[in-house]
Amino acid sequence: MTFPNEFRDAVRMPRELPKPIRGDTDRLRWFARTLRPEVRKAGLAALERTMTPYLRAVRTRVDPETIHGMTANYSETLPKSLHNNTVMLNNARTAAYRAAQSIGLVEFLTSGSLKEFAETVSGFSLEQGPGLQVICYKPGDYVGPHNDHHPEEAHLRDGYVDLQITLCNDHVERQYLLYERDGFFNQQVNIGIPSGVSVSMLPFWHQVTPMVGKNENARRWLLLVSFVIR
Ligand SMILES: [Fe+2]
Repeated sequence: MTFPNEFRDAVRMPRELPKPIRGDTDRLRWFARTLRPEVRKAGLAALERTMTPYLRAVRTRVDPETIHGMTANYSETLPKSLHNNTVMLNNARTAAYRAAQSIGLVEFLTSGSLKEFAETVSGFSLEQGPGLQVICYKPGDYVGPHNDHHPEEAHLRDGYVDLQITLCNDHVERQYLLYERDGFFNQQVNIGIPSGVSVSMLPFWHQVTPMVGKNENARRWLLLVSFVIR
């Protein structure tokens, strides 16, 4: 097992927590350099070795029709465009799920202390059994502006809570998360650092800028844990 059984054993908890997200205009909390260095190092090696074969390339291009199909000035809309590699871990019968189990990743991401942290920081009581996803960013990989609103899903349409863990290898130069607060798309966080944990209450507008690497071996691994609000 590479990842500890409990989230609390992987992180250096901040001494003082910020005010909860519930009721605040800022829907995101970012805890920089939270992972213990040995957990980051072993985690990066295990993800690279064990999860790389299961990653699926996701490429969604900007449709030229979004420009040339316009008939009125200033009427532009931009659907989500992205370029990265990902795998979902929501089906225990898949090989990817078993691979994630073999390095302790499933147990780690579904641990009681991780849910507790997400509840404390968000201010919401959360359901058991979160959705799990792994994303790997290489140089140039990005996600364009989007808001993660799911109006067709009854359990998500009033908002949900994401906890995301970033692990960057030493070849990463920079990457930013830009997001909207209180109607202005002017917030930014440097997520291209060795490690970090974010807790957010979606939906709100956000985007991930293209990752800049020092060389082609740069990788940013993102572990996503999505909770339904109770
Ligand atoms: Fe998103």
